[in-house]
Amino acid sequence: MTLQSTPINRLDYTPPAFLIDRVDLTFELIESQTRVQSRLVLKRNPEAAPQLPLELAGEELTLESIKLDGAPLKADAYTVSAKGLIIAAMPDEAILEIVTLINPLTNTSLNGLYVSSGNFITQCEAEGFRKITYYLDRPDVMAKFTTTIIADKTRYPVLLSNGNRVDSGQMDKNRHWVKWVDPFKKPAYLFALVAGKLVMLADQHTTPSGRQVALEIFVEPGNLDKCHHAMAAIKKSMRWDEERFGLEYDLDSYMIVATSDFNMGAMENKGLNIFNTKYVLAKPETATDVDFDGIDAVVAHEYFHNWTGNRVTCRDWFQLSLKEGLTVYRDQEFSSDIGSRSVERINNVKALREMQFAEDAGPQAHSVRPEAYSEINNFYTMTIYEKGSEVVRMYATLLGKEGFRKGMDLYFKRHDGQAVTCDDFRAAMSDANGVDLTQFEEWYKQAGTPELAITSQYDATAKTYTLHIKQSCPATPGQAEKRPFHIPLALGLLDKHGKDLPLQLLGESNAQGTTRVLELTAASHRFSFVNIDEAPTPSLLRDFSAPVKLSYAYRDEELVFLMANDSDAFNRWEAANTFAKNLLLSLYASNDGQQLAPTSFINALRKVLSEKLDPSLIALMLDLPRENYLLEQIDSVNPAQLHLVHRSVKAQIARELRAELLATYNKLNDGSTYRYEDAGKRSLKNICLDYLAELDEPLVTELLSKQYRLSDNMTDRLAALKALVNRDGGEAQLADFAVQWHDDALVMDKWFALQSTSRRPGALSRVQALMDHPAFSIKNPNKVRALIMGFCLQNAPHFHAADGYGYAFAADRIIELDKINPQVAARLASSFNRWKKMEPQRRQMMQDELQRIAQQSDLSSDLAEIVNKALS
Ligand code: TRP
Ligand code: ZN
Repeated sequence: MTLQSTPINRLDYTPPAFLIDRVDLTFELIESQTRVQSRLVLKRNPEAAPQLPLELAGEELTLESIKLDGAPLKADAYTVSAKGLIIAAMPDEAILEIVTLINPLTNTSLNGLYVSSGNFITQCEAEGFRKITYYLDRPDVMAKFTTTIIADKTRYPVLLSNGNRVDSGQMDKNRHWVKWVDPFKKPAYLFALVAGKLVMLADQHTTPSGRQVALEIFVEPGNLDKCHHAMAAIKKSMRWDEERFGLEYDLDSYMIVATSDFNMGAMENKGLNIFNTKYVLAKPETATDVDFDGIDAVVAHEYFHNWTGNRVTCRDWFQLSLKEGLTVYRDQEFSSDIGSRSVERINNVKALREMQFAEDAGPQAHSVRPEAYSEINNFYTMTIYEKGSEVVRMYATLLGKEGFRKGMDLYFKRHDGQAVTCDDFRAAMSDANGVDLTQFEEWYKQAGTPELAITSQYDATAKTYTLHIKQSCPATPGQAEKRPFHIPLALGLLDKHGKDLPLQLLGESNAQGTTRVLELTAASHRFSFVNIDEAPTPSLLRDFSAPVKLSYAYRDEELVFLMANDSDAFNRWEAANTFAKNLLLSLYASNDGQQLAPTSFINALRKVLSEKLDPSLIALMLDLPRENYLLEQIDSVNPAQLHLVHRSVKAQIARELRAELLATYNKLNDGSTYRYEDAGKRSLKNICLDYLAELDEPLVTELLSKQYRLSDNMTDRLAALKALVNRDGGEAQLADFAVQWHDDALVMDKWFALQSTSRRPGALSRVQALMDHPAFSIKNPNKVRALIMGFCLQNAPHFHAADGYGYAFAADRIIELDKINPQVAARLASSFNRWKKMEPQRRQMMQDELQRIAQQSDLSSDLAEIVNKALS
């Protein structure tokens, strides 16, 4: 398995030939030549075929020595390749001692052991451990790890690894050592090591069973004042998991290390999480409200992995969503409980639709449990994470909160300490509740976004209201025909006053609540509600009860009615969103750029502004659907044309609601000092400002520059600067901002992102010039995300410029990055995924650039997989 050739197929799984009971590692840390000694206690796996060779994965390693049961291994007893090391004849039990040399200094992939700002950091998920030593680098091989770290005392005063620190001492040549023991068996992808000059914020937590846990956040010197929000998030997460799922922490210390060079958000290594600084460092002067929420979510996510991922892990990487989908669901529930449930739901659904639906409709579409992959790093996707979370949420919707908890309890009771599959999770949910979830497996097997087409019929004589529901799912690569999914459809019916009607289905003796979850299992269904005195307005797919596309021919008046009355906050927002989406798409289709939005739309938004609702909900209802989301609904699309429509509607709203927007802005902009809890007010204030910025008036310029100058927090300052940068002018403030924040890397990321996503003419040449800015580095993923991905993925009008220069720029950067960091290059390449959606000229140019990338020699397996799928 480890040295298998690609693609790797899910159904080819075989158990490992050997198991590892213990692994003892010793690292002698030297930047350009680190020595790794590994001592493995191996035994043959009784569940594997006998006589199999031992195949250890290993990449970019220099083998210094290898001993079997104390004796050096003869050269003909093993073979070494670029993929690993194979020993053909192995005893049933053995001790293997391997010494390898690696070069962390030149490791720009940020995978394996690497140097970042002079500190040593590891990233082992998914297959990074094989860049540290030869190993059975697969998640179903779980071993107890001991790690000894030796390093220069002055340069690396802090030496960390998983588990408990058991011993330490001094050595010659100004060196010291620390020994760590992790009492829990774990797969190699959860291994971590950190060494460097770091300072620590300490706190503690006592679990319900009385365990005292030391909480420690390690950061570079000078950043301690930005760790308090993350520390509070750890404590909230621990308490929440104890209360909601009865799960408590299991080691004496829980450590987080923040690094500025990281491919993803964070990593759940046992007892020693490693985080991108973006998800740790924050104070009101440097971080926005969105950043603070992101810290809560990611801290919770990584902490929750300790049970969903670490104590119970994945049998193989096809099961990735077993831990990721479940852990995203858990962090979303956490965020819902500590904040506003409906706002959290709306934001998550927006992200799902903008990104996961696009993935599901394009060349990289794959199911939540994929069938094959070439490079596992390419499968840390919106589908595995976000759709995976929706799949978990549907269990909770079908089984209820208590039924879901019963399923979780059984899952842990059965599988603690094991490496398991998505089927095991589904079986626990099913067995704990005595329900048949056989058909539910389709959510794991089939890719693509299912579509629900619903029509309704009111019979005034019989007083019945009938819904006809058809489900279908478009073909995706390798899956032409789809079988029906098991879909929970939550809905309500509103009377003419906007009140929820009691819902009684034909054949039932009485009404059962006002929101019902209908279970769809066939291609078509018909449900009749009885005792309905007048034609109701349906509120369909409440709280977005399934990750599907819904089509129902709502009239505009019905949408306005739902916007004002639906008891389901998600569907109130959804009605506004649908109204705006329909409008923008029809204006785009009319294609003359002259048409205006109807008064009914403007009036609906005016009404929203006057509602007594949570201000963040009002802000969300006012926000127009993003261009990226609209692009997905149009075939042979011209993004420039769409951008014009989007802008002109925005400007029209600003003109016609000028007085209301200004009044709301002025009311909220009351000069009060910053309080974290006022985030909702800031979001409403700043969306008003964003609209007002469409008006070319001195008054607005004054508002913007005042807010930029006088704000005491980054949320407000950045909102003002963003609006300024989208207008003409703003150069002075941009320069001022860079002077003030030039040595704060995370704030400079915002500065780069503002410019890369700016719609003003000349965006590309500014992005190109900024690549030479001293604060930019193409080796740093956060910088690449801010400047390059910002442009390619979040600046549709400029990336898709008619001259094709945006595409050429993207392809050049993808080729350049592939030599530095293939994971990042592959992510950037996804900006070409939707080329077939474009109008013919852009389609051709995008295809040409994809082909140019494909023709490069020595493409990484990461990039090759993405580009080949995009082209096929
Ligand atoms: N398991 C991590 C998480 O979801 C994801 C992750 C962090 C990752 N770093 C990575 C995945 C590097 C692939 C490569 O929290
Ligand atoms: Zn995760």
